[in-house]
Amino acid sequence: DWTMAAYRETKVREIREQVGDKKVICGLSGGVDSSVAAILIHEAIGDQLTCVFVDHGLLRQNEREQVETMFRDHYNIPLVVVDAEEMFMDGLAGVTDPEAKRKFIGKTFIDVFDAEAKNVGGADFLAQGTLYPDVIESVSFTGGPSVTIKSHHNVGGLPERMNMKLVEPLRELFKDEVRELGRELGLPDMFVGRHPFPGPGLAIRIPGEVTKERCDILRKADAIYLDEIRKAGLYDAIWQAFAVLLPVKTVGVMGDHRTYDSVCGLRAVTSTDGMTADVYPFDASFLTGCATRIVNEVQGINRVVYDYTSKPPGTIEWE
Ligand code: XMP
Repeated sequence: DWTMAAYRETKVREIREQVGDKKVICGLSGGVDSSVAAILIHEAIGDQLTCVFVDHGLLRQNEREQVETMFRDHYNIPLVVVDAEEMFMDGLAGVTDPEAKRKFIGKTFIDVFDAEAKNVGGADFLAQGTLYPDVIESVSFTGGPSVTIKSHHNVGGLPERMNMKLVEPLRELFKDEVRELGRELGLPDMFVGRHPFPGPGLAIRIPGEVTKERCDILRKADAIYLDEIRKAGLYDAIWQAFAVLLPVKTVGVMGDHRTYDSVCGLRAVTSTDGMTADVYPFDASFLTGCATRIVNEVQGINRVVYDYTSKPPGTIEWE
């Protein structure tokens, strides 16, 4: 009968067969999926694998340090961290269309991976933590006509000119299965239980133009929100929680002066696979506490709203 241990062995064998003695580059995002893919592939082919973590400036607070610690210290897996903030921010300047953002980010990731493939003396394969729902959603919307909802950058967003072949050992799995496989591979609980984070990162949580300044503001608000969620013991009950920064300014008052700053949206949903989602029903006092802290502690935000939209009709991310 079917077990995760057996699945692990099958996949290790398949990866060895697919890759042979060639080299593989694995793009790490900091999320569970790419981490599990990397560890599985490392088990299969060892040093033929190089992990690449692109710091595109669209990461959450402390995310880069956490990934570095985990891969270098905990697993001893070769890891290249690419500082690409400027490249991404320059390219995103003036871009407001959600699909244009996704396309640019997907393309730029590939440019970075191609360059790293050369640096390791030529890699024939690019590994990604693509899951089954990513495959479906990039192709069609369940029950409807075949339209692309969003170009997930680890599926449809990849340009055709890419030279490397794909290794996607998680393509048949749902998120809960990936987490189980992660546990099977000894991934620390803290990582296994992490909320999903999209490849395009904060860019799709900042409707309108993405700038470094806006990313910095959002990072602070997001960190406060997640801190409150952890302190309340709610992190594991939620599929995904994050802040978004809206391209809207509203008037407020702080002390004895008028403010005119951005609006921050808070989102939290429950889900089992990300395909459908329900709004997490926080107590009003919890949300009030978050709003107060964010407005008090984050310069540039003077108003906080909560997103009450389920999926469908909303998507989980705002773009
Ligand atoms: P949506 O917003 O489509 O998101 O309801 C469903 C789940 O997918 C994640 N997501 C992505 N993950 N690359 C990823 O790796 C992407 O381009 C991407 N877009 C959305 C999203 O965070 C949610 O968990």
